[in-house]
Amino acid sequence: MISFEKKKLMEFSSSLSFQRDKEFFHRVWNTKLDVYINRLKAIGFFDKDYVLDAGCGFGQWSVCLSELNKKLVSIEIDSERTNVCKKLFDYLNLKNIDLMQSSIEKLKFKNNTFDVIFCYGVIFLCDYKSALKEFYRVLKPNGKLYFSGAGLGWYIDNLINDHHNTKDFNSFDMAVSCLKNTINFMNDLPFDNSNNKQTIVPSIIMKKLCSEIGFQNIMCDGEGFINLTNMKNVRSFFPKEHFGIESGYEILCEK
Ligand SMILES: C[S@@+](CC[C@H](N)C(=O)[O-])C[C@H]1O[C@@H](n2cnc3c(N)ncnc32)[C@H](O)[C@@H]1O
Repeated sequence: MISFEKKKLMEFSSSLSFQRDKEFFHRVWNTKLDVYINRLKAIGFFDKDYVLDAGCGFGQWSVCLSELNKKLVSIEIDSERTNVCKKLFDYLNLKNIDLMQSSIEKLKFKNNTFDVIFCYGVIFLCDYKSALKEFYRVLKPNGKLYFSGAGLGWYIDNLINDHHNTKDFNSFDMAVSCLKNTINFMNDLPFDNSNNKQTIVPSIIMKKLCSEIGFQNIMCDGEGFINLTNMKNVRSFFPKEHFGIESGYEILCEK
């Protein structure tokens, strides 16, 4: 079982430059680890030999994936977040995680490497077409990919209601920049890089893309709803809809 002194763990966020990152760190680490463990068990991501956590952020899913599986690679593009994860994984004495600062758009792994790939809250922040092709390439045959996404409803809610606004994050501005990016991406124009290349991608487009790339057995539901193992106490982090429009969703598919 993973055990830690909460006060010590929270100290790792003190070096972060942005207030929004400090608050995000506190949010994810104030959630009981059982919530993440139950979610991973519900999608069958346990007892695997080799797992990729793609875009690990502050590492809470990685810590749980490392507990449930044999070996894990965690990659994260942001240097500050990667440094925090390094301190965290060392503090928790997790020996089965390789941590790398890298992008999920171009993976430095051979074909057919991983049994499962987990990618929570990341795919819409990057060039998702490249990332999904890379996931397919590095998954073993019959390997599984899980990722979560956000539909238009989430961004409309961000335009109307504050979501975790801090002195360096404004959810309205994020949603506007995301709308601009979405239009650019659809027209093969460059991203507005000021906001993580974030684009709105409805699940129907993601499913079509997964299928075109070659993924099979594509399951899609509201975020936190896929439950293959009849786990109890499985919790969503995002509503399925806002204003009757798709919001948080998740996709589980197979190579
Ligand atoms: C919303 S956070 C989610 C983090 C983590 N998966 C979680 O659930 O808490 C998105 C993360 O994706 C990272 N990210 C964005 N684009 C990326 C890319 N191209 N490659 C790897 N990580 C990326 C961000 O730096 C950030 O840490």
